[in-house]
Amino acid sequence: MNIETKLPKVGTTIFSVMSQLAVEHKAVNLGQGFPDFEPPEPLREALARAMAEGRNQYAPGIGTAPLREQIALKTVRLYGRTVNPDTEVTVTSGATEALFAAIAAVVRAGEEVIVFDPAYDSYEPAIELQGARTVHIPLVAPSFAVDWQRVREAITPKTRMILINSPHNPSGAVLSAADLDELAAIVRDTPIVVLSDEVYEHIVYDGAAHQSVLRHAELAARSIVVSSFGKTYHCTGWKVGYAVAPAALSAEFRKVHQYLTFCTFHPAQAAFAEFLASTPEHYLELPAFYQAKRDSFRALLAPSRLKLLDVQGGYFQLVDYSAIRDEDDVAFCEWLVKEGGVAAIPLTPFYETALDTRLVRLCFAKSDATMQAAAEHLCSL
Ligand SMILES: Cc1ncc(COP(=O)(O)O)c(C=O)c1O
Repeated sequence: MNIETKLPKVGTTIFSVMSQLAVEHKAVNLGQGFPDFEPPEPLREALARAMAEGRNQYAPGIGTAPLREQIALKTVRLYGRTVNPDTEVTVTSGATEALFAAIAAVVRAGEEVIVFDPAYDSYEPAIELQGARTVHIPLVAPSFAVDWQRVREAITPKTRMILINSPHNPSGAVLSAADLDELAAIVRDTPIVVLSDEVYEHIVYDGAAHQSVLRHAELAARSIVVSSFGKTYHCTGWKVGYAVAPAALSAEFRKVHQYLTFCTFHPAQAAFAEFLASTPEHYLELPAFYQAKRDSFRALLAPSRLKLLDVQGGYFQLVDYSAIRDEDDVAFCEWLVKEGGVAAIPLTPFYETALDTRLVRLCFAKSDATMQAAAEHLCSL
């Protein structure tokens, strides 16, 4: 049978490719974005207890009430926005599911979605599967700021959604309150929905406050905000995330979620509800926890020939390797994993039209021993 692919541009993701090469070549894996340390012990115990106590059948489709209440509490505590846990909060199987459900719920065939390159790789396939068009706007390197004038020029009557991501993967740039004002002015009096990927919401540095779209009344009224417990609680393999949106948008979102997964892993929902209630300091202390990692990683790399770009949030460090080799980023990452002992992620796969830069991404959500081992390799290049 001749299968005509619906996603001709999609192959195996660069994250899986590099993780596989890291195993093959016994390289230190700073590629894929996951911590190599464990989630908090009380959270793991709560998960085991939830299973032992029989929370093993379907959860309510929209998420358990205690977990949705904790998410609503966190939202008002951090961003000053009161949301209704019954009508505005939906628990999902990771942020990936929430992003897909949001796009599928809102975007129709022939419409356009604006994304900023370098863009997380799940966005475009989700848009294309709706028969819609992805409009790529490059962020301005090396600060990876948004050029709002370019956004204004890219708006057409077909623009249905603008997808933002702050703190940004892979650059570590964050949006400011002024950026959100610019965005609000652009979408005012249009039918454009904002999809805000905030999976690194608790990982912002140097005393800055995360500028969640939920802080911005005008934007919050037309936005779906997505986050991930995997990033916050060092358990990316549990795949639990959530979406917060006004009731009418949530209702549409839930129609898709209902038939995409129906519900999310029940024992983990019980564990997160318990841990969020007992230990809110975990997310409150996360900026300091990761800032210490960022700073020690940067100090370890200081003697290397890599040029380190600024990191304002998230757990990735972009480095310029042009003093070491003059080849494109994919070739450099292949060489680095095979000959240099470290797996990194090239930026090209995050772009529609790659910039001619010599930048790769390193993940510093790693133990001291892993960072040390990676730095020894990188400083010898
Ligand atoms: C920007 C961004 N969005 C979404 C996700 C996916 O999150 P989850 O693992 O909860 O599906 C990731 C994971 O790396 C990410 O970096």
